[in-house]
Amino acid sequence: MVPELSVNAQDGAVPDSLVVVSNREPYSHERDDDGEIRVQSAAGGLTSALDPVMQSRGGTWVAWGSGDADMAVAEEGMIEVPPSAPTYDLKRVPLSDAAVQGYYYGYANQVLWPLCHEDTGRMWAEPAYWDQYRAVNEQFAEAVDTVADAGQPVWFQDYHLALAPRAVRERRPDATLLQFWHIPWPAPSVFRHCPHSDVLLDGLLACDVIGFHTAAYAEQFLHCVDRAFPAATIDTDSGTVVRGGDRTQVVANPLGIDVEAVRDRARTADVASIRDTVLGGSRSDPSIRLALGVERLDYSKGIPERIEALAHLWERRPDLRGAFTYVQKASRTREGIAAYRRYRADVVDAIERVNDRFGTVDWQPIVYTEANLDNETLAGLYRAADVAVVTPHRDGMNLVAHEYPAACVDGDGSLVLSELAGAATHLDGTLTVNPHDINAIADAIERALELGEAETSDRLTRLKHSVEALDSSQWVARQFSAGQSL
Ligand code: F6P
Repeated sequence: MVPELSVNAQDGAVPDSLVVVSNREPYSHERDDDGEIRVQSAAGGLTSALDPVMQSRGGTWVAWGSGDADMAVAEEGMIEVPPSAPTYDLKRVPLSDAAVQGYYYGYANQVLWPLCHEDTGRMWAEPAYWDQYRAVNEQFAEAVDTVADAGQPVWFQDYHLALAPRAVRERRPDATLLQFWHIPWPAPSVFRHCPHSDVLLDGLLACDVIGFHTAAYAEQFLHCVDRAFPAATIDTDSGTVVRGGDRTQVVANPLGIDVEAVRDRARTADVASIRDTVLGGSRSDPSIRLALGVERLDYSKGIPERIEALAHLWERRPDLRGAFTYVQKASRTREGIAAYRRYRADVVDAIERVNDRFGTVDWQPIVYTEANLDNETLAGLYRAADVAVVTPHRDGMNLVAHEYPAACVDGDGSLVLSELAGAATHLDGTLTVNPHDINAIADAIERALELGEAETSDRLTRLKHSVEALDSSQWVARQFSAGQSL
């Protein structure tokens, strides 16, 4: 069993200065309709875990310069960030349109994303995608080579950058290289669908440390290495791989959230007005119970099954019509890919059908919003919800499952969670479901609405403890202590 890193890592393990490499940048510059340039900070787990560390330790963050004014405000791609009080450098890698199409919309999101989410029917391995993926990984490696000082560790993030570690290792044989794979790692029988599986593994094995959210993903990775490279020496108990001149430590290092920040935002949120705004004044009768789903419109998220489950529930429990509303907060994503555009259309159609079937003059069963909610509003919405429903087919971790209990500062709230999300491995107190089991999802939502006060509070207490144990403040230190503590 691959070891899960101890929760309390040594802060001393974090280097004084480092290089982080990711597809998305922590700050982007965009031109608005008036031609004014505005800074946007990225939301999401990766940035909220790494930006504070970069701010306190310093170094360089290398990322795709995706903002339309990014290069105009940078000097040879370099800019100091955060823009309001700079503490570290951001090196923006400019990508051509062809590179974005082939590397981002192509290989990363039409080959690796469906592969790792074990949805191989959606894979489309156009040869040009692979060419662009390789070329962009080289481009990132070159950028790293221009900014990294000798001795500065380089930490690659996620599936966009599987080949860059090998490309940097060739330029810098003695560098300390790390990777964190934020999405699931598939079973060997699935991974072999990838026409470039061995090259991808070779790229990653140039790292000294590779982290995954769960021990199961780490083990599947080791099994894939074993199958691809029979001559490699693999110790699954300690998580080490020795192959040629490379020695790689593979670890489970779950990423959580900044618990206190979410809790603070929830505490100060004006819950009644947020509820009013999201539900629309006339529908916001405070006695109506609320369930909530928050996700990108990604086909891995299991939204259609959830909508079907809700229809089953309102069908068999007419007393819940008018008494319980489901809010779906959705964000448009990766719309350069047809499968994502179709998914959004399917979700919107399914919601309309349910609303036509069960809705009344005074009550709308499902409220759907694509509004760009700020973190404060989102925390208020979590707090307003009696139940959060997180039912992905597959998910590396899922941080909504962490944020919801942290925001339940009134001591009530239940979480219906897919057993196939990484979070299910780590969170205690959930109502766990198979995300394809429509009856089970309906049952779990019904149960969540009817749990007594004592059980709700007991489950929420357990949930909060598990979320606190994975607070993001320790994640970076754990990754860096990997080589030392195992
Ligand atoms: O979960 C993987 C991930 O890359 C996250 O890091 C990120 O928040 C999300 O997917 C969004 O993806 P994209 O960068 O394609 O918009």
